[in-house]
Amino acid sequence: MKAATIARYGSPGVIEVRDVPAPVPGPGEVLVRVHATTVNRTDCGELLHPTLIRLLTGGGRSRRKILGLDFAGTIEAVGGSASRFKPGDRVFGMCPFRNDGAQAEYFCMAETGPIAQMPSNLRFDQAVVCEGAFYANPIIEHFALRPGHTILIYGASGAIGTAALQLAKDRGAEVVAVVAGRHRELMRSLGADRVVDYTTDEFDQLGRSFDFVLDAVGKLGIRRWRRWLKPGGVFAATDRGPWSQNLLFILWSKVTGSGRVVVPLAKRGSGQAFVNELRDRIEAGRFIPVIDRRYPLTAIADAYRYVQSGEKAGVVVIDVATEDRAAEPG
Ligand SMILES: NC(=O)c1ccc[n+]([C@@H]2O[C@H](COP(=O)([O-])OP(=O)(O)OC[C@H]3O[C@@H](n4cnc5c(N)ncnc54)[C@H](OP(=O)(O)O)[C@@H]3O)[C@@H](O)[C@H]2O)c1
Repeated sequence: MKAATIARYGSPGVIEVRDVPAPVPGPGEVLVRVHATTVNRTDCGELLHPTLIRLLTGGGRSRRKILGLDFAGTIEAVGGSASRFKPGDRVFGMCPFRNDGAQAEYFCMAETGPIAQMPSNLRFDQAVVCEGAFYANPIIEHFALRPGHTILIYGASGAIGTAALQLAKDRGAEVVAVVAGRHRELMRSLGADRVVDYTTDEFDQLGRSFDFVLDAVGKLGIRRWRRWLKPGGVFAATDRGPWSQNLLFILWSKVTGSGRVVVPLAKRGSGQAFVNELRDRIEAGRFIPVIDRRYPLTAIADAYRYVQSGEKAGVVVIDVATEDRAAEPG
């Protein structure tokens, strides 16, 4: 099979698309034929700092040779005792870090992992959207958003930001999205109540009117978010923040028990339930995939370079197999 392989870790230049033996599903595993995958910030982090990412994700000891988290494809074969899926089923989800990843024509994963029947209304190349929502969901759940709440989402144009915006609107909260002006129409189309361009005076004039602030790109300093939160308001971030300052605030929040700064993560083992729920949301029109650029597998190094630029909106797709598209929805 063709796969994007990593001979040594480092810059995107180390990625080589070449032929490698296809994996064989073990007991309880499925072999997935990948139609589409993505390059995301987690992949970029793993390419540069494999040991750190494996520590954070419980990915086991050995570094893997093929990266890639999000996937959409078909079941090619099932291993002994696997019974949830049958060959030909259209599936999507997230490839666990313990296995070689989805930036290849085939990969194997446990059928008990984060894999589900694909939303019936999407094409393969539209369904590779789990990762951003997976990280956004525990934050929105932790906030327990409801009508009457106001939330500011900073960097709402990224994979996590676009997902957080939709999940927050779905719970009835009022959402102010802070983005570059070029994303204004996208934010409106996803339901933002107000869009503020971070390069304008309007951004500097934002006042103390939010129950929650989410920094979805890890760029906010405390001087900003503290000024926007109402008394008792809560700040969450998806990254360490400028000069890793969020680490200090999380520690302070834990030690004092204030709960004012949080980084909620998904519970271990919750992936499958999450992917099933996301499928239902997508089919009900309550979650819209946001797709930026697409690249063929042969140009995956260029996709890594683009994602590393920090400029993508939503998801960057890698088309792995395109020959079956004619029979797909949309
Ligand atoms: N907590 C976790 O487990 C976890 C997992 C994955 C990723 N992360 C981290 O979460 C962050 C977001 O990930 P992601 O995949 O959603 O990112 P992403 O898709 O790469 O986000 C990029 C978006 O952020 C916008 N942006 C860049 N600089 C900005 C700024 N100064 N102010 C406001 N918006 C800005 C960009 O648009 P413009 O350039 O047009 O502004 C772009 O649309 C990253 O720092 C990533 O490392 C955390």
